[in-house]
Amino acid sequence: MEWVGNMSKNLNQGEIAMQEFWNKRYSDKNYVYGINPNKFFKHQLGKLKPGKLLLPGEGEGRNAVYAARRGWEVTAVDFSVKAQIKANNLAAEHDVEINYIISNLYQAEIPVDTFDAAAFIYVHLTNDEAKKILQKVIAGLKQGGTFFMECYSEKQLGRQSGGPKDINRLYTIPQVRELISELNISKLQEEEVPLNEGEGHRGKAMVIRAVAVK
Ligand SMILES: C[S@@+](CC[C@H](N)C(=O)[O-])C[C@H]1O[C@@H](n2cnc3c(N)ncnc32)[C@H](O)[C@@H]1O
Repeated sequence: MEWVGNMSKNLNQGEIAMQEFWNKRYSDKNYVYGINPNKFFKHQLGKLKPGKLLLPGEGEGRNAVYAARRGWEVTAVDFSVKAQIKANNLAAEHDVEINYIISNLYQAEIPVDTFDAAAFIYVHLTNDEAKKILQKVIAGLKQGGTFFMECYSEKQLGRQSGGPKDINRLYTIPQVRELISELNISKLQEEEVPLNEGEGHRGKAMVIRAVAVK
């Protein structure tokens, strides 16, 4: 696919700081969220016929590699080079390939009407950022393509089982409904789930899960 990330366009200090934060978080040899796919991701993906999958904010590749092993053609986007290296190593260990693009999601030029599915797994942005990025992600889906997401809800604040400590980067049901309002939503639920995903997501957590079709 002709799609190359570009990290050189003007990023503000806050965006550069975020990128550094994530590179630092991924600099350890351990996989912060483990090497197994997120449970909801695995469950939802299992309902679909393999095709082209977009994974914005994919991190160290646990979901991308799982999908590639099941026959999906995977494009991952993230601004962390450290994460990309670990994801590519994981892919090589399993003898699969993923297309891992280094780009800030704000700048990623996502090709339109291209993907059969897109999954947004624990990508915590402010509402304005999420709106801009999800518009591009949704435009990238083919008609009939499936979108699904899992993220921490605002009710996660104060819990020690992962997620940002900034309420502006946590989601609510009305927010998510608005963010994906262009799609036909078949599931949108807030629930408490037990997480056991590396050191980063561990313990009972309040999450929002959504599934929608374009
Ligand atoms: C909590 S991690 C989740 C990683 C992965 N989705 C998973 O579930 O294992 C959030 C990821 O989003 C990426 N990210 C956050 N903001 C981003 C941005 N503006 N552009 C690109 N990647 C971003 C981070 O580098 C990080 O890998």
